[in-house]
Amino acid sequence: MAVSTIIVADRVTKIFAEGRRDEVAALQDLSLEVNEGEFICLVGGSGCGKTTFLNLVAGFLSPTDGVIYLRGRRIAGIEPRAGMIFQSYALLPWKTVFGNVEFGPKMKRLPKAERRAIAERFIRMVGLTGFEHFYPGQLSGGMQQRVTLARLLAADPEVFLMDEPFAALDAMTRQVMQEELIRIHEQSRKTTIFVTHNIDEALILADRIIVMSARPGRVKTSIQNDLPRPRHVDMQLSPRYLELKTQIWGHVEEEVRRHIEATPRDPGER
Ligand SMILES: Nc1ncnc2c1ncn2[C@@H]1O[C@H](COP(=O)(O)OP(=O)(O)OP(=O)(O)O)[C@@H](O)[C@H]1O
Ligand SMILES: [Mg+2]
Repeated sequence: MAVSTIIVADRVTKIFAEGRRDEVAALQDLSLEVNEGEFICLVGGSGCGKTTFLNLVAGFLSPTDGVIYLRGRRIAGIEPRAGMIFQSYALLPWKTVFGNVEFGPKMKRLPKAERRAIAERFIRMVGLTGFEHFYPGQLSGGMQQRVTLARLLAADPEVFLMDEPFAALDAMTRQVMQEELIRIHEQSRKTTIFVTHNIDEALILADRIIVMSARPGRVKTSIQNDLPRPRHVDMQLSPRYLELKTQIWGHVEEEVRRHIEATPRDPGER
């Protein structure tokens, strides 16, 4: 099957507060192509512009320079074809678990019975059956994050954008969620851009790992993750795994060091 490109970011630059004293260049000339069905992990140090990039693809922000296309159409304004899981859980606090998950299908004006079936299915998938009528404030952080995943799946956008969705989960829940996401991706082949600080997480999930440079962010390197699927934590013992991990870590470390060295330690110091 021919590989087709779904997302093209062409020399994207994002400068916040441009021209002001507090101006920040978050991204500079970032170019990236994502293939249909591909699972991309974005890794890079804190503040290198990962969230900014997802916000640009979602259309919540617009680039200062450069263009992002989704299926050949330029992203301009909030992009309904992309669905986002935010770094901080963003649930509607006045709606129950059921109400939150049903929200996407409701926006699409699906009939009530169909909406209900979809919501129930994804609530079950993330292990929250029995909690349908709880409000986000009554759930643990991990449970809230599982609701955000169910909500994304129920909304069924063309592209999944996930900003460190599992970062706050305990190690066990995180592993279960990763396996769940792998299974979902195998079934749906949904194009996914997943941000993580965790190289092990990137190696279990991704088809391809993009290491971003220190701010202003751009693509430092793109590494094809050729670890065979289906993947499981056992593969962490394989030589190829360690080789890839060392390689990725080397790139990330170099950028983090560069960033730290470029940052003055005390105000005024340079
Ligand atoms: N709305 C904004 N206004 C001004 N500056 C911003 C804004 N959003 C982000 N920035 C700046 O842009 C840079 C990149 O931020 P971003 O949130 O994209 O980083 P990140 O790679 O997601 O970091 P982390 O790994 O810590 O989440 C930072 O220096 C940040 O201060
Ligand atoms: Mg971020």
